[in-house]
Amino acid sequence: MKFKMIAKVPLLAWGGIMAGSLWMIGSCSAQTAATLTIEAGHAAGNVSPMHYGLMTEEINYCYDGGLYGELIRNRAFLDDPKEPAHWSAVSGATLSLDAKHPLNETITTSLRLDSPSASAAAPAGLANSGYWGIPVKPATRYHARFFAKAAPGTSGPVTVSIQSDDGATVFAVADGPTLTSEWHSYNVTLTTGQDVKPSTKARLALTLKKPGTVWFSIVSLFPPTWKDRPNGLRPDLMQMMVDLKPSFLRFPGGNYLEGDTVETRFEWKKTLGSISGRAGHPGPWGYRSTDGMGLMEFLLWCEDMGAEPVLGLYAGYSLKGAFVKPGKDLEPFLEEALEEIEYVIGPVNSKWGARRAKDGHAEPFKLHYVEIGNEDWFDKSGSYEGRFAQFNDAIKLKYPQLKCISSIGSEQPEKLQVHSRKADVIDEHYYRPTDVFLKDSAKHFDNYDRKGPEIFVGEWAAHETAYPPWDKRAKSDPPTPNMKAAIGDAAWMAAMERNSDLVTMQCYAPLFVNVNEWQWRPDLIGYDALNVYGAPSYYALRMFSTHVGDEILKSSLPQGSALHQTVTRNSKSGAIFIKLVNPELTAEALTIQLKGLAAVAATARVETLAAEPTATNSLAEPKKVIPVISTISGIKPTFTHTLPPYSITVIELN
Ligand code: AHR
Repeated sequence: MKFKMIAKVPLLAWGGIMAGSLWMIGSCSAQTAATLTIEAGHAAGNVSPMHYGLMTEEINYCYDGGLYGELIRNRAFLDDPKEPAHWSAVSGATLSLDAKHPLNETITTSLRLDSPSASAAAPAGLANSGYWGIPVKPATRYHARFFAKAAPGTSGPVTVSIQSDDGATVFAVADGPTLTSEWHSYNVTLTTGQDVKPSTKARLALTLKKPGTVWFSIVSLFPPTWKDRPNGLRPDLMQMMVDLKPSFLRFPGGNYLEGDTVETRFEWKKTLGSISGRAGHPGPWGYRSTDGMGLMEFLLWCEDMGAEPVLGLYAGYSLKGAFVKPGKDLEPFLEEALEEIEYVIGPVNSKWGARRAKDGHAEPFKLHYVEIGNEDWFDKSGSYEGRFAQFNDAIKLKYPQLKCISSIGSEQPEKLQVHSRKADVIDEHYYRPTDVFLKDSAKHFDNYDRKGPEIFVGEWAAHETAYPPWDKRAKSDPPTPNMKAAIGDAAWMAAMERNSDLVTMQCYAPLFVNVNEWQWRPDLIGYDALNVYGAPSYYALRMFSTHVGDEILKSSLPQGSALHQTVTRNSKSGAIFIKLVNPELTAEALTIQLKGLAAVAATARVETLAAEPTATNSLAEPKKVIPVISTISGIKPTFTHTLPPYSITVIELN
């Protein structure tokens, strides 16, 4: 067999182990090849069409300061009751919070600007540096919107500009209309010049050229968004997700669904409509959410990715231990959940279906799965049994087509699991070291009852460290994981895909991290205000999720083999996807035997991700570890392929 492999990663001698031969697949002196046997004559099961999905919540500045396009931090001036956090005064102006001049009943504070010495030569006002900088790009249109009213005697417009963080360079500027003494919203378009250099060292400034007093509320700035949606999403992050071809999105959490307290749960009704009616709320990860990412934005996000929602319903348990007793006390929360479902799929003549139509989407969204709570094994009161039963029964009565997911899986102690009802699906979470995934993957799902509930692995990730993500030592590690974690992830994905008749859905967590400040690692996709990169694990996931058939082919490796494998086939095209993980620091020759297959095309497409265990990607080196595509020829029903050291490989046969 001939190999045409382009070595993407330079020939390093990491740890002195493979000097000279690393990634030179064609010239590896392979030891005696082990055999991967594939029963290609018939399918052993069906791959769930919902298998590969995504999970998100407001963590690591995932929405605010991440996917949500809003560039202004603390736009509603509600982040800190004591001071206008993240805002600064420009040219001697004074800024203060003013609860006596609220915008409305929801946005209960405004920002008062006093600029007694403002002049055309020294405009005075306020500035915001966004989430670690405002991203400036050449020839780009930004949409600024703010609410303002002026004190009597204040004249002239507000000048809006995107400028360097020291104010010395103006990248884009425009005057808004003249203010009145009543609250109005003002829209201003700002366009940067062709010669502007991309930078995050910028701020938005709102200034007056004449002395005066002005109150501001909801100051917002959006760059171009995905599909140009108003209140929309950041295109580069969307592209990263779209490239994964996810079939579902689990939202809004995670802990973010539950909140620290009942009052700070994700209250979906408060996230609808104009952003001038969304006060936001404190999130469980140490910062306040704007609620700019509301239920409608989540649903449109799913639609724009071609994915369907897996909707997490608040079910009466919050992180600091408060729980709502099943029965009468729980009824209002159940009602809230039923109304939420109605908002998503109800007809337009239902109360909440009509509200959805008013919010711009008459057509019901797709929805097949709802999850009742999140990680309710933390509820030590034992109330989940009753809470699940109450939700499950009421949901099934009104929406028999929906599948209810229990948030307690069988990886949790038996006594915490739900017994009075058979959940359609159970959600299991696996945050494990690479070494544990490597050990556990081969057999993990073998003993599951195939007649039991479907398994949703609703959160999982390998960590390359011996300590878990919630250990304080993780704080000093990089936010995104390295190749060692990707190897663990790939072995785990192989296990889940081999069993994807049972593991009908799975999603890595957390998905996003703003590298400037974060609460949890490892994460799949890192970014700052301007740039984005995928961890090696992102590429491992992309290789898996974009090369999958609808049939599982039974495959086996000799006992004791360190390799991991999964094989699927597209029943329409006949394409066979062989995924292989080599966690060894040596190249491994493998004989691949396709039993029950008369013929196979002579060439195959191969995608390979290979690097030393500590290799990783970052903002500075976003593409250090990425897959390499090659073609191999001489393929027969039995052929040999050599897996590079420490590698993930997808072979696509026709
Ligand atoms: O993914 C991070 C957190 O891990 C989720 O919010 C929670 O569900 C889990 O404990």
